[in-house]
Order: sequence, then structure tokens, then C-alpha cells
Amino acid sequence: MTATIARFDRSPSIRPHAERLAVTYRSARPMDVPAIVALINGYAARGVMLPKSPDAVAMGLDDFIVAADRTDRLLGCAAIREYSPSVAEVGSVAVVTRAHGTGIGRELVRHVEQLAGRRGIQELVALTLTPHFFETLGYTVVEKSNYPEKVARDCIGCVRLHDCPEICVARHLDRRRN
Ligand SMILES: CC(C)(COP(=O)(O)OP(=O)(O)OC[C@H]1O[C@@H](n2cnc3c(N)ncnc32)[C@H](O)[C@@H]1OP(=O)(O)O)[C@@H](O)C(=O)NCCC(=O)NCCS
Repeated sequence: MTATIARFDRSPSIRPHAERLAVTYRSARPMDVPAIVALINGYAARGVMLPKSPDAVAMGLDDFIVAADRTDRLLGCAAIREYSPSVAEVGSVAVVTRAHGTGIGRELVRHVEQLAGRRGIQELVALTLTPHFFETLGYTVVEKSNYPEKVARDCIGCVRLHDCPEICVARHLDRRRN
């Protein structure tokens, strides 16, 4: 973990518009793994996300941002997945149903964008069934074939390669904001 992330970890931010829920955004910790897996796999069972194993989450813990309530219970998560030195995916975006519509999903994506900025990433991509959520955050619908790294890593070999329901969205990061 870089010094920047460690500082971020020690000083979690509380976003004004989520004050009602006293939401804290911070880097994920080992104790978060079971709750992250339960959240993601709950949505996976409903067909809206891909499942994740505890090992996969634990191995990529430095890539996860979580939202937690005042008792440190998980409210949501999102993760960065780097494809190349300049392009990464924002994924595993999930918010507990009781907190939908409170801006937590938006803030999680913004925190992943900040993490991406600190890592020198210039462009974030997402594959999603809910492109409107990302469009409200400044992402635009693009051709998945623009991202051969993603296609090579995840799509080739997928049984749904030719009838994938996911929409590809992307956003160039404004380096002044990150
Ligand atoms: C998608 C999800 C992460 C959004 O989280 P959220 O905290 O409820 O979203 P926010 O309150 O931050 O909403 C931000 C904007 O996205 C819009 N939005 C939220 N959920 C949306 C959805 N499912 N479909 C379309 N637009 C959506 C909101 O209307 C809001 O737009 P506005 O600013 O114009 O009002 C959440 O609904 C979720 O966990 N869904 C199940 C898991 C999932 O589908 N994950 C994959 C997402 S790629």
C-alpha cells in the first residue's frame, strides 16, 4: 500500500450530502472481506453483478474502497482494476439496498476516480447493466472494442461474448480534480 493510500486510510472523509447516514469512505481492510463478499454475491444471485470469492476480494483489498456507517458496518463498495498504466476499470460497485439513492454509489465511484488519479490512471472504464448511473457521473457509452485489454482479459472465453448485455462506459479523468 502506498504512503498516499495509508494517509487516506487514516483520514477517512465524510461527505456532506451523506451526512444523514454519517457515511465514511475509506480503503478496505481485511475485516471488511466477508461483508464485501456478501454484498456483491447477494447482487450476483440476482444476476446484476458477477460473483466474487473471498480470496479474490482479499487478494485485491488495496483496490477496494468501502463506505461504512458510524458503527463501521458496510454500506457499499467499489474497486479499481488496472488494465494498463493508463486505463483501469471501476467495478464491484454495490450499495446496500437500504441506502440506495443517498449518493453513496456516486461517492464510491468518485473515490475510485481519486485512487485512479493517485495511481496515474488517465481513463476509467466500466461494464454495466445500469449505464444511466455512470452517465450521471460524466461517463459516456463507448465501444467495448476500444479496450482490447479488457476484452482479452475477461471477454474472450466468456460464454456471453457475442450477446453480452453489459454496456461499456468510460470517462477521461481530469488530472486537476484527482
Ligand atoms: C447502482 C448502485 C451502485 C447505485 O448506488 P446509489 O447509491 O443508489 O446511487 P446514487 O444515489 O449515488 O445515485 C447517483 C445517480 O445515479 C442514478 N442511479 C442510481 N441507481 C441507478 C440505477 N440502478 N439505474 C439507473 N440510474 C441509477 C441516480 O438516480 C442518481 O442520479 P441523479 O444524480 O441524476 O439523481 C446501486 O443501485 C446498487 O448497488 N445496485 C445493485 C448493484 C449493481 O447493479 N451494481 C452495478 C453497478 S455498475
